[in-house]
Amino acid sequence: MSNHKFYVTTPIYYVTAKPHLGSLYSTVLADIAARWHKLSGQEVFFLTGTDEHGQKIAQAAELAGKDPKAFVDSFIAKYKEIWQKYEIDYSHFIRTTDSYHVNAVQVWLQNLIDQGDIYKSQYQGWYCTPDETFVTEKDHDASNQPVMCPSCNRETVFVSEESYFFRLSKYQDRLLAFFKINPDFIIPKEKTNEVVKFVESGLKDLCISRSTISWGIPFPGDTKHVTYVWADALNNYITAVGYGDGSRKGDFAKWWPADLQILGKDILRFHAVYWPAFLMASNLPLPKHLLVHGWIKVGDQKMSKSLGNVVDPELLYSEYGPEQIRYYLASQLAITHDSNFDTNSLREILSADLANSLGNLLSRSVSLALKNNLTAVIRPHSFTSQSQVILDLIKHTTQDCQRLMQDYAYHMAIAEINRLIGRVNAYFHELEPWQVVKNNQILFHEIIWVTCAALEAVSVLFSPVMPQKMSELRARIGSSLDLTGNVLARLVKGDSSVEFKLVAGESLFVKYEKLETEEPKKMEIKTEEINYINIEDFLKVELVVGTIETCKAVDGSDKLLRMDVNFGEKGIRQVLSGIAQSYTPIDLIGKQGVFVYNLKPRKIMGMESQGMLLSVMQDGKLKLASVVAPVANGSRLG
Ligand code: MSP
Repeated sequence: MSNHKFYVTTPIYYVTAKPHLGSLYSTVLADIAARWHKLSGQEVFFLTGTDEHGQKIAQAAELAGKDPKAFVDSFIAKYKEIWQKYEIDYSHFIRTTDSYHVNAVQVWLQNLIDQGDIYKSQYQGWYCTPDETFVTEKDHDASNQPVMCPSCNRETVFVSEESYFFRLSKYQDRLLAFFKINPDFIIPKEKTNEVVKFVESGLKDLCISRSTISWGIPFPGDTKHVTYVWADALNNYITAVGYGDGSRKGDFAKWWPADLQILGKDILRFHAVYWPAFLMASNLPLPKHLLVHGWIKVGDQKMSKSLGNVVDPELLYSEYGPEQIRYYLASQLAITHDSNFDTNSLREILSADLANSLGNLLSRSVSLALKNNLTAVIRPHSFTSQSQVILDLIKHTTQDCQRLMQDYAYHMAIAEINRLIGRVNAYFHELEPWQVVKNNQILFHEIIWVTCAALEAVSVLFSPVMPQKMSELRARIGSSLDLTGNVLARLVKGDSSVEFKLVAGESLFVKYEKLETEEPKKMEIKTEEINYINIEDFLKVELVVGTIETCKAVDGSDKLLRMDVNFGEKGIRQVLSGIAQSYTPIDLIGKQGVFVYNLKPRKIMGMESQGMLLSVMQDGKLKLASVVAPVANGSRLG
């Protein structure tokens, strides 16, 4: 960690809704990395922001009946509010509609045009709008049937349009050579093989403009085209620090290349292939590392807005507070794997690690000292061997964390800190200071001082994860440690506060009970009140699951929505539903619903409805009936 500066980025988020736990995850990881590097005295630039152009946003805006710019504007305050609630201490929030970014992307394109790396041709093929990606020939079969996106498994659309192409193929060999020389570029390393295989299989030139949509950065010199959203978005990492702006050359030289770029595994190809090639073409250095994390799943599905299974960070915030959620995300979700989000495991971890272990060590040591009128304790001149073990452990744990955080192994670093807390709890327990105080004041002072020194070190090591709680912890032990400069190096040298002043206070953390799923009450059935049907009657009704692919308001009706529903092999059907007072079209797109599939088609306002969407009326609003976990379209209920 010799470098004096550290530049870290998150992906920029598509603004079609407010952030969910997946977006929070990438952002918290970046915030922790930024704060960790500040502890070594480095100057940090932390970039996050929003990806606001492209077909996906344009479509979502249209469905919401808004102008795209007004549509994206409407989400920004919420993003910033949630980031602030979660103590995301970013240096800059970029929006790809910011004029400096728009100008700089045009400068970038013009340079590539001038040097012959861009040419005009025709694109014919498939496009996945949710992923904003051209599905390459390798990815689909030759039958020219609509294909599913190999990445998100949603149906793609055929596009045929004039495009500008970037000569990606030209950079194939340089990319392969780069991966060979820099096996640590991608963390975890194993992901490199996947990328190398993709590059080795042959890179095709990449479309970097669209002529069938208009929501994007105008392509220099050709008003019919806008910049392809990924060519626009990836450049945010350089435009935010001054690329393309003659007056910010110093900033750019200072911050670029980024030290760490954090991203989810679904956008690896864009960051590990296209982005490095763009930089190579521009003669710019490549970022030092890409940190690729897995997905947060709910019940084994990727959490995503379109699957409708997102966990709301605002609800978690009000239930658990920001720092406990940050702790859970960093300690429990292994970066290299997908992880399941589960409320009971969250409650268990918070209770065990924070309330029972760290919180308890703080409260038992401070209250024992205060009970015995010890309000201030000074560093002893010498230490017993048991105390020395703890002091050595503080140094080693700090060094272990430094080593682990070099590879961004957050959960392993946190495990080391928890091990230290466990050892100090055991030390406290074994030395029985509540007995010692009766006849050996010197040893009693020593035990309290050593415990406080350990708590102080823990508060520093955990401060990137729980900044506020850890500063409360330091206040409770009256630590005078200065967190500026290279405090980690000082911990390794053994520089603790000389004197601790103890203060009574509330528990730092809360203990949570396991949530029991309530046994449903058995109901007594009064047979005479029910109009029974037999199984044959029931089987006549075909209830089938389908995904709502498109959904629009119906002109002249404030109740009806018109949707195209994908029933898998059974095909796509048009369904009209009187649900417009309860849902806007964007709420429904991508959702699975249950439909009466064999209801005789009927005409409503001149349009045929080929099925009926089931819903439940509650508190004056209709609620969509659906399945708990996504199933194959066309599946029949029964
Ligand atoms: N706009 C692009 C990124 C452009 S970067 C130049 C994009 N946006 S996104 O909003 O769809 O996703 C942003 C990030 O959130 C990605 O890294 C993605 O992996 C992450 N996550 C989205 N859902 C997630 C989970 N369920 N779990 C963990 N992270 C996930 O892609």
